[in-house]
Amino acid sequence: MRKKSVALGGYVSYLPAEVLWPMGHDVKSEGRMKSVGEAMDSSTNNRKLQHIRIVQSDLGVDRRKLYFDGVLLRHRALPEINLADVDPSVEFLGKRLSFPLMITSMTGGDHEILRRVNRNLARAAEATGVAMAVGSQRVMFSNPSARDSFELREVAPTTVLCANLGAVQLNYGFGIQECRRAVEVLAADALCLHLNPLQEAVQPEGDTNFAGLAEKIGLVARELEVPVILKEVGSGMSAPDVELALRAGIRIVDVAGAGGTSWSRVEHHRRRDSAAEGLGLVFQDWGIPTPLALWLLRPYRDRLQLIASGGIRTGLDMAKAIVLGASLCGMASPFLEPALESAERVIEKIERLKREFVTAMFLLGVAKVAEMRGNDSLLLEPLTGRRSW
Ligand SMILES: Cc1cc2nc3c(=O)[nH]c(=O)nc-3n(C[C@H](O)[C@H](O)[C@H](O)COP(=O)(O)O)c2cc1C
Repeated sequence: MRKKSVALGGYVSYLPAEVLWPMGHDVKSEGRMKSVGEAMDSSTNNRKLQHIRIVQSDLGVDRRKLYFDGVLLRHRALPEINLADVDPSVEFLGKRLSFPLMITSMTGGDHEILRRVNRNLARAAEATGVAMAVGSQRVMFSNPSARDSFELREVAPTTVLCANLGAVQLNYGFGIQECRRAVEVLAADALCLHLNPLQEAVQPEGDTNFAGLAEKIGLVARELEVPVILKEVGSGMSAPDVELALRAGIRIVDVAGAGGTSWSRVEHHRRRDSAAEGLGLVFQDWGIPTPLALWLLRPYRDRLQLIASGGIRTGLDMAKAIVLGASLCGMASPFLEPALESAERVIEKIERLKREFVTAMFLLGVAKVAEMRGNDSLLLEPLTGRRSW
């Protein structure tokens, strides 16, 4: 499907039914009671396809706030290094990456499109030496046929792969067993637990009990054999969140800030009840812009590894995020279209990003990523309170 813009001037504007119900919408079965497993299976799978269709169809889902354009770096007219000597590689979770990029969580499930996206992403991640995380694996617990969409080790034997579950599921019956199984399926190097209170609040079938979650995250972090990465999905994380994360034993946080994909806007398209009309649009830009989140979390730089994602669109944005203290940068939606096509298209995209990142390093006069990470002297001006985001 080609990407086309949908005019969303007013508050109540929806995508057509064929976009929302790609597998068909069984209106007749809506009235009957379904078993929990049955309902979750069909709805979780359908939801994953809907997400892809919505991101493809509504250009406005990517908010394109360009918050990173407000961050200026110190150009060096005399960089005093050879471009050929720039080394963008980094170590992450004990493995070497060719440059600090992670394809962040998107999808998986019992459908050919979802399998294809994950395999193309994993092949490209392996070929280019970047990290990859899968989308929520919740679906594989209700539908065993979804499992193989996450079995990516055979196509990505050496690179960093991360599993993914919604943290809030720990309040809805999930525990350490499910986390272990999610990790095992892809022999993952880490488990991403995502935090998405806004998405759940807007979602018609949202799981909105976030009470007491930090303690349960702590239990998983203590017992799991691989590190837990705590991530948002596009609204950012603030200092009180990071304090709770540190107390729970978390050492890697993906701020996943505002400025890129808006889950509030995605879920807006899926709501049909009049009571919530417009809720997802009112909150579509809610959250902490990614560069600001990094800046506000600078007191924590030496206590945890920060991943920057949410609205990162170029290798130059990546360089800015690293200067603002990130160890790694994540991107999701820009990889969707290429991944629907082929692994080669994803590889081309990654190589372009790498070239942009290396060019920025050269122009900053830094030969190693360690020299730029959290190096405030590379900022042309500090990100102060007077800036209007
Ligand atoms: C189609 C799509 C599906 C996503 N599904 C998940 C998911 O299952 N779990 C998760 O943690 N994040 C998910 N995300 C959120 C991304 O990992 C990322 O945090 C967010 O999109 C911000 O990055 P971006 O602006 O580069 O897209 C998804 C993003 C997209 C575009």
